[in-house]
Amino acid sequence: MQELDVLIEVLKSKHDIDKESIVKLLTCKESKSIYAAADEVRSCVVGKEVHLRGLIEFSSYCCRTCFYCGLRSANSTLKRYRLEPKEILECASRAVAYGLKTIVLQSGEDKSYSINVLCKIVQAIKGMDVAVTLSIGELKRSEYAELKKAGADRYLLRIETSNENLYNGLHPGMSYKNRVRCLYDLKELGYETGTGCLIGIPGQTIDMLAEDLLFFKKLDADMIGMGPFIPCDGTPLEKSEGGKVDLVYRMMSLTRLFLPEVNMPVTTALGVKDYNGYKNGLMCGANVIMPNMGMSEYKKMYAIYPGKGESINNMENQIENIKKVVFELGRSIGVDYGSRRKTTK
Ligand code: 5AD
Repeated sequence: MQELDVLIEVLKSKHDIDKESIVKLLTCKESKSIYAAADEVRSCVVGKEVHLRGLIEFSSYCCRTCFYCGLRSANSTLKRYRLEPKEILECASRAVAYGLKTIVLQSGEDKSYSINVLCKIVQAIKGMDVAVTLSIGELKRSEYAELKKAGADRYLLRIETSNENLYNGLHPGMSYKNRVRCLYDLKELGYETGTGCLIGIPGQTIDMLAEDLLFFKKLDADMIGMGPFIPCDGTPLEKSEGGKVDLVYRMMSLTRLFLPEVNMPVTTALGVKDYNGYKNGLMCGANVIMPNMGMSEYKKMYAIYPGKGESINNMENQIENIKKVVFELGRSIGVDYGSRRKTTK
């Protein structure tokens, strides 16, 4: 057997290899056998179901100034919006009426919603018999605890990069240590915890991507979201080169091999960079898609990066298109909450 085949076999059975071997798998010419191995592990461990999560981007206001993100507060060219709690609940019940079993509430770090108001929103959505995922950034442990008590099941907070220097350079006024603290607090509080990284952000090396995978594994992440960095006007990185989709597929495949039980979406950023992103992502280990269930007049305004929101027409079409891709691959749509299914520990 060739060295690469041996590494893939070890990953398939032990779901662990050293960093040097990860780097080899990230840089080798052969991608097909890596994708195929990830697809096989996905099929054996999490099955053929694709879980749909209804995404509601409820506010584009953000107090942060992350170098890559179009929502950064310093981007004064952006027209901002925020939904009223009542509007958020309307979006949620529409998503539930479409049959979705998870509602994801995402926003910039907008301090105008108090934890109390957010708890009430979570409680009301939990009354609709769905899982609730939050993706609202860094909070105090006590705030995460209150939201958990209100019924939130899951939380998404990408580490963005597990390299402390690169992280600190990209996030003025924030710290890598606090980011990691948030993730471990979420885990300890019993949230299903999602993280992930940007792929192809300036300053990132293959070695750092290998470290990202080790970071996900050490955290025992329940969900991983990854997408290519897309340069965005109005940000310090607007003139930089974007991330390559092939590297995203490689990272997704290795994530599935490394953390076999994880729930992993095909991200919107990947869909923007690759017309066949949903299909290709589902063949490289992904088992989740997040249709946008927010209010149509605001979808384009949640401009984290260019191209986002443009492909989203009406919701019915969106869900029908997703189903078509899923069925063409011989897969099915998940009918339950689609929580992490633990087969080990
Ligand atoms: N390109 C791609 N992804 C981005 N994100 C933010 N800005 C960009 C960009 N320019 C991602 C971050 C964040 C998620 C919500 O969107 O990883 O965690």
